[in-house]
Amino acid sequence: YGTQAISHQGHLTIGGVDTIELAKQYGTPLFVYDVALIRERARGFRQTFEDLEVKAQVAYASKAFSCIAMYQLAIEEQLSIDVVSGGELYTALQAGVPAEKIHFHGNNKSIDELTMALDAKVGCLVVDNFYEIALIKQMANERQQEVAILLRVTPGVEAHTHDFITTGQADSKFGFDLHNGQADQAFKETYQAPYIRLLGLHCHIGSQIFDTVAFGLAGEKLVDKMQQWQTDYHFTSTVLNLGGGFGIRYTEEDQPLAPKVYVEDMIKVVKEKVKKACIPMPEIWIEPGRSLVGDAGTSLYTVGSHKTVPDVREYIAVDGGMSDNIRPALYEAKYEAVIANKANKARNQCYTIAGKLCESGDKLIEHAALQVAQAGDILAMFCTGAYGYAMASNYNRVARPAVVFVEKGQHQLVIKRESYEHIVKNDLPFTLKKGE
Ligand code: LLP
Repeated sequence: YGTQAISHQGHLTIGGVDTIELAKQYGTPLFVYDVALIRERARGFRQTFEDLEVKAQVAYASKAFSCIAMYQLAIEEQLSIDVVSGGELYTALQAGVPAEKIHFHGNNKSIDELTMALDAKVGCLVVDNFYEIALIKQMANERQQEVAILLRVTPGVEAHTHDFITTGQADSKFGFDLHNGQADQAFKETYQAPYIRLLGLHCHIGSQIFDTVAFGLAGEKLVDKMQQWQTDYHFTSTVLNLGGGFGIRYTEEDQPLAPKVYVEDMIKVVKEKVKKACIPMPEIWIEPGRSLVGDAGTSLYTVGSHKTVPDVREYIAVDGGMSDNIRPALYEAKYEAVIANKANKARNQCYTIAGKLCESGDKLIEHAALQVAQAGDILAMFCTGAYGYAMASNYNRVARPAVVFVEKGQHQLVIKRESYEHIVKNDLPFTLKKGE
């Protein structure tokens, strides 16, 4: 992946930096991000829109991995930013992200979160439901402040990794149903409302998607709706946001397309449809998360204990687990790994990699073909850049790992490892009086 290589000592290197040295300097578990690969992915999306001469915004879905340095890198690569909570919004603003580049999502934004977004003057609110429409209208009126919005709709196209289904009515907690009148109602409540500037439509059809058919289909349905509003209300939509969900390769079973292909196919279908509908070509916005940072992240762990279950399997345990990567336990997600200090040796062992948390399901990889492993070796698990650190927890009061960025032989700590002091920081002593 990306700038990974094997040094003459047989060590895995990323961005020209020896992962064994990183493990020594920063400790393990450690997330290492290949900055060059993130840049390459970002440019892959952006350049394709430019080549096709389509006005676009590529917004980084920061739920995949967010921290101040990540937002700063995204801005350097001219991405917009998708945030889904007050916490992400706060971090992005702290990082210096220009507010107009921020799109704010969420199916239950609180009044505090909306106030924060309006105070900051974020670029766009992606409005999800009628409750939110009422809130925003009221707040915008009271503040006499213009608010740009997109309406999030569920088009009845759902992508499931390798295929997709279309349903008349999508059962989703998100957005307005496109087909049962909800989207039209949301439109009527917003398109002429004072201080509300309706830009267009948004949809997100799923995550880790490997083909482009479902994106095209969703795009067509949204363009149909735009055409209807154009005809019936002379309303011109200026933005069509098709969400994120572009797949990456975790194991050899996954065969994702290049960012360029996703964009090209999507644009081809939308352009044709727009032409037929006789409406102006809207700006196309997308929201990749996983495909920008997923394969750029590698987790480093130190191997500790070893257990043989005769005739069944051999476990090796590492110093992290479901507290820094819940995806195997939660989604049966598959990963590949290597013993990073023996990367040039043959992979002639089969191990199940266990985490250190008190739960039998805390296994990171089942039956991994690996080099012979001993306590003290460094295990590198690939493609952990999306929804790894982002979903990390303090389960078992385990501290969250540190995160480093590497590029061109340089390395930099971007998130410190949590300390035990951090872990008890919000705890207060017990003070209730013992009853009689
Ligand atoms: N836009 C919206 C509205 C979304 O809900 C999501 C992801 C994205 C963009 C970015 O999708 P991506 O390009 O990263 O696939 N925790 C799960 C993934 C949850 C995705 C939620 N929404 C996982 O670890 O696989």
